[in-house]
Amino acid sequence: TWEIGRLIDQEIAGVRETVGDARVICGLSGGVDSSVVAALLYQAIGDQLSCIFVDNGLLREGEAEQVRTEFGDHFKTDLHVCDARSQFLNALAGVSDPQQKRKIIGREFIDAFKREAVSIPNARFLAQGTLYPDVIESGANPDGPAATIKSHHNVGGLPEELGFELIEPLRNLFKDEVRAMGVELGLPEDLVWRHPFPGPGLAVRCLGEVTAEKLVTLRAADAIVIDELRKAGLYRDVRQAFAVLLPVQSVGVMGDGRTYEDTICVRAVKTDDYMTADWYPLPHEVLGRIATRVINSVRGVNRVVYDVSSKPPATIEWE
Ligand code: XMP
Repeated sequence: TWEIGRLIDQEIAGVRETVGDARVICGLSGGVDSSVVAALLYQAIGDQLSCIFVDNGLLREGEAEQVRTEFGDHFKTDLHVCDARSQFLNALAGVSDPQQKRKIIGREFIDAFKREAVSIPNARFLAQGTLYPDVIESGANPDGPAATIKSHHNVGGLPEELGFELIEPLRNLFKDEVRAMGVELGLPEDLVWRHPFPGPGLAVRCLGEVTAEKLVTLRAADAIVIDELRKAGLYRDVRQAFAVLLPVQSVGVMGDGRTYEDTICVRAVKTDDYMTADWYPLPHEVLGRIATRVINSVRGVNRVVYDVSSKPPATIEWE
């Protein structure tokens, strides 16, 4: 922590020198990197920082609330929440092609972010949570899979378009340093150790068309998966885990009646770099607890299956 404290002091000095008395906008996603950037900037420049959080309605359970609590109540940043939930849902209506969904979500994000950003007067800088590995990957192969993935996280050509200068206070750091910094800056452990989450969020885990009802089902099931992994002490060892709502109904029984309901698939992987991954051998008891809880408490689900595919040839996500 002594090392990390020094690193924080260094970054803070750097930010202050670059920024002077100008206003900085930081986009919050709910994830680790943007949260650490915001916490660092808040420490460095206090109320010269404005944060923008676009609530796309596609986040995991509790994430949107946590952004408000952390950056509105705990760190009292000038937090602008853009409630774009219905904007995203409307734009996604009738769309079931995965790449099309990604495109729409990217477009709507930029649209919402821009709207919010222009309402903040006199902003000169835009802060982004680029890490050292992102810098290397996109330098080595700007069109490679890593760059394609990352392009969903950042705001594309937005800085230039809005006349912002970009600042990337984490660009010399690795993920473990960023996490340590987050803890040192006072961010909660569960946020700092959160599994990665795709920019398009639950939309690519809700196979086929995305609807408000499906999102409710998926979010509830996903929260159970995560909760059971935490209770079993496996959350950190599993590097990414989640629920997927399959576009499959199947027959079940309840009392003397027949049901015809949705299927939840549980996905858990171990991986170092997310380019390759092995399915995680979750203990049967843990799988059993997840299945029982999902089926008993998530309405409209009567079946839970476990994905035992590795990457390649499967991908981590289903879409
Ligand atoms: P795949 O499914 O390609 O995922 O094995 C590898 C890692 O990337 C994440 N992922 C995404 N992240 N936008 C993102 O920001 C995306 O469109 C996207 N697709 C996949 C995935 O969650 C995993 O960590």
